[in-house]
Amino acid sequence: MDTPRFKTVGIVGTGAMGRGIAQIAAQAGSTVLLFDTQPDAIAKARDSVGAQWDRLVEKGRLTADAAAAQKERLKPAAALADLAGCDLVIEAIVERLDVKQKLFGELEGIVGPGAVLASNTSSLSVTAIGAGLKRPQQFAGYHFFNPVPLMKVVECIAGLKTDPAVCQALAEYARQMGHTPVQAGDTPGFIVNHAGRGYGTEALRIVSEGVADFATIDRILKDQVGFRLGPFELFDLTALDVSHPVMESIYRQYYDEPRFRPSVITAQRLAGGVVGKKVGDGFYRYVDGAAQIAAEPAVPPVGDIPPVWVSTRAARRAELYQLLKDLGAKIETGQSPSPQALTLVAPLGFDVTTVAVVERLDPARTLGIDMLIEDKATKRRVLATNPATRSDMRDAAHALFARDGKAVSVIRDSGGFVTQRVVATIVNIAADICQQRVCSPQDLETAVTLGLGYPLGPLAMGDKYGPANVLEVLFNLQTVYGDPRYRPSPWLRRRGAIGLSLLHEEA
Ligand code: NAI
Repeated sequence: MDTPRFKTVGIVGTGAMGRGIAQIAAQAGSTVLLFDTQPDAIAKARDSVGAQWDRLVEKGRLTADAAAAQKERLKPAAALADLAGCDLVIEAIVERLDVKQKLFGELEGIVGPGAVLASNTSSLSVTAIGAGLKRPQQFAGYHFFNPVPLMKVVECIAGLKTDPAVCQALAEYARQMGHTPVQAGDTPGFIVNHAGRGYGTEALRIVSEGVADFATIDRILKDQVGFRLGPFELFDLTALDVSHPVMESIYRQYYDEPRFRPSVITAQRLAGGVVGKKVGDGFYRYVDGAAQIAAEPAVPPVGDIPPVWVSTRAARRAELYQLLKDLGAKIETGQSPSPQALTLVAPLGFDVTTVAVVERLDPARTLGIDMLIEDKATKRRVLATNPATRSDMRDAAHALFARDGKAVSVIRDSGGFVTQRVVATIVNIAADICQQRVCSPQDLETAVTLGLGYPLGPLAMGDKYGPANVLEVLFNLQTVYGDPRYRPSPWLRRRGAIGLSLLHEEA
């Protein structure tokens, strides 16, 4: 094992985060001193970390000698003053600016002049925490994720006065602890909590418009894009008492930036105590820890399916024709649909109603299909009705697209379907992070895949679905909703033609 970059590390606050950081620091070979104001917190932390190591020994993944040595390196500190010999102190106490400022003021008087002080804050400004310090250049943010040993990414955050060498040292130490460091500017939410704003907020907005219920939205995003958890499953897991205040805080810190506008849905659920899995009741109800998910609407029994006519302006038109052929549909190829035809449109960003009106189609027979993503690459097809769509046409479309056994969701009309809206919002926020130079595009991709578990980094996601398509969705969503939240970031506009994941910074 290499000599650790920081030989003696103090951890202040030995709750969920502090103990996780202590574990990986001791594993990296550092002597770790634990301090907490709660009398039994240190013993609990040592017991819990010790038990983790015992389990690794049982599984044969750690030798008994190594476990004993690691336990030996994890030491209690009776008073803050005992941290005097530390060359790094990491704080993971209560998330309050005044309490953290006071703690670091005290620590600065205790540790040596060369020691680095770091905060694990997830939502406070690193610059603000370090503002009153005599040596703010020695202070940085070091933001880990829960559970620390499993979430292998850490954001190294430079405040206005932080010496860049301090962040480099923290990054080097992160690697020794088996983590991947990313460098973030001191901006609200840093990288991960900023980039994560798109998924849940856009999904909430779709629910609030009555376009689809939350279970349908979860199914669509998991099956079409490959997210491991739907946004509402994720809300339930994180719990709204954690995630709603984060949404509000980032929105306010960005001076009411419309892209981050929180939802009244989560505000009300939080007020009502319906916060998620930990209380057994969230968007889903939980029985013995398992979510109770209502069955999907069955495929309607339909006798004859009418002939199908596809709009000349449909996205992926050739692919849609091939799909219809494969499904055994009777396809009309005339200039306009016959009076019996089921009429399909496939807009990007626009709503089905607008397209039907602009293209002079009979709305009663018109449905939309989301063709943003290649049909072969998805496990679900999504259709949208408009307010005039006849139920026989809706059922016929549903039955037709389910013929090969692929799942089908039918949602109500909205600009941009579910996937288009959510993907475009995620990509746009990511582009804006690059525009603001919060971090490098490479670190953004790393932070999001490791910190949020998305199937792809947001820039790679934009490239996969086509930067021009994403831009088209956003331009049209802006027209449909007149809402600046869909305003494309200038960074996205500039990269729209050339691709987003050119992983280098602009000169
Ligand atoms: P926690 O409540 O599990 O642990 C906090 C510990 O700090 C407690 O043991 C408490 O007794 C101790 N403490 C409070 N004030 C203290 C003081 N003045 N001096 C010494 N000890 C003090 O909290 P958790 O979840 O570990 O969070 C700690 C910090 O990490 C917060 O700043 C939080 O925002 C941040 N964070 C939390 C994440 C999470 O998912 N829980 C993720 C990333 C960051």
